[in-house]
Amino acid sequence: MDKMVIEGGKRLAGEVRISGAKNAALPILTSALLVAGWNTFHNIPDLLDIKTVKKLLKSLGVEMEGEETLRINAGAITNCEASYDLVRTMRASILVLGPLVARMGEARVSLPGGCAIGARPVNLHIKALEEMGAEVTLKEGYVEAKARRLKGAEIYFDISTVTGTENIMMAATLAEGTTVLKNAAREPEIVNLADVLSGMGARITGAGSDVIVIEGVERLHPCEASVLPDRIETGTFLIAAGITDGDVRVVGCDPSHLDALIVKLRDAGLRIDAGRDCIRVRGCGVPRSVDVKTLPYPGFPTDLQAQIMALMATAGGLSVITETVFENRFMHVSEMMRMGADIVIQGTSAIVRGVPRLRGAPVMATDLRASASLILAGLAAEGQTVLSRVYHIDRGYQQIEKKLSALGADIRRIPG
Ligand code: EPZ
Repeated sequence: MDKMVIEGGKRLAGEVRISGAKNAALPILTSALLVAGWNTFHNIPDLLDIKTVKKLLKSLGVEMEGEETLRINAGAITNCEASYDLVRTMRASILVLGPLVARMGEARVSLPGGCAIGARPVNLHIKALEEMGAEVTLKEGYVEAKARRLKGAEIYFDISTVTGTENIMMAATLAEGTTVLKNAAREPEIVNLADVLSGMGARITGAGSDVIVIEGVERLHPCEASVLPDRIETGTFLIAAGITDGDVRVVGCDPSHLDALIVKLRDAGLRIDAGRDCIRVRGCGVPRSVDVKTLPYPGFPTDLQAQIMALMATAGGLSVITETVFENRFMHVSEMMRMGADIVIQGTSAIVRGVPRLRGAPVMATDLRASASLILAGLAAEGQTVLSRVYHIDRGYQQIEKKLSALGADIRRIPG
């Protein structure tokens, strides 16, 4: 397995371009299942998770051409089963469930199983499909769902779920009648997906708010659309500039998706100037400690919790970081402590006392965003950090070592 080797202490400077958002591209690719004909999607990122979802779609009979600009046609679906060996490597595979039931009247999708950050059930996806008239059975670790034609329903998600909202929004586009999603997730990736579905002829209003109304239609048609920039990659690079006391321009991003992070980084003393599609961030020496609480969008993103913890590990005081979305998303803490971080976990909060210098050490990645936070800590640390199990980072960051090297970081990949 590949490793990353980082020699810390280099200030980042220069310009970095943001790639398409993993968490927007995944549902946009599965939305192609709703349509017979060639769709064209632009700004598809080159990530392990994208490779996985393309493999899954191909196993269903979907045709594809191209990479960053991808043409995709689900005109001839030959199989409605998403097997465990594909789903277990990427939970977001559950995003084929809604489109398959809507288009084909049936689906058999392996239950994704838990992952490092939590149990991550899909009960809300299943409950909503049943409320739309699907007959759902769980057996042998698979979800089996059947419906001659889904029926519009009023659905209340008792937890705000991103892929749950996406799955049911897709399913509802071809249902008979109108579906109302209440307590819907409000992430920008959901707005991007709704725009793509509308481009296919779906009738959707309210995406981006907590009430989304979808009026079912008989069929959809192919469309051309673009994936929005990755706000989590953007946030990761803003923090990389701060933790190295650097001066970086992040381009091809959408600053309006990062209000919660930008406010926190400014409170910590970083200088941030946001344009229409770019952000200049300058360090401030030792950042001030700030408290963070993760919440569904537009709150502080759980996907940036580990990264800002790395910054707070080098700050000048005491920071309380509370994780409210997932039950086990502090896997990076023990690894950071091996680098000299002073962190105490108390329930759903981590109490982070900043230290003058982190020390490089061999550390192990446990999940995607934990890996990113350990790279950030390594950039700031004195000496060498060796990060193993790098495949985690490749799931969600396109050539992160190349982008960081171009900003002056001393980081290299050792093929394993
Ligand atoms: C999406 O996961 C993202 N993944 C995650 O990003 C992100 O961390 C998460 O949303 C929260 O923002 C993709 O979009 C592909 P949820 P998702 O359903 O949809 C509970 C990354 O690093 N829940 O919003 O799986 C769940 O356990 C990844 O890019 C149920 O209880 O998350 C969690 O506690 C990690 N039952 C909470 O809701 C359900 O049926 C929010 O989960 C569904 C969810």
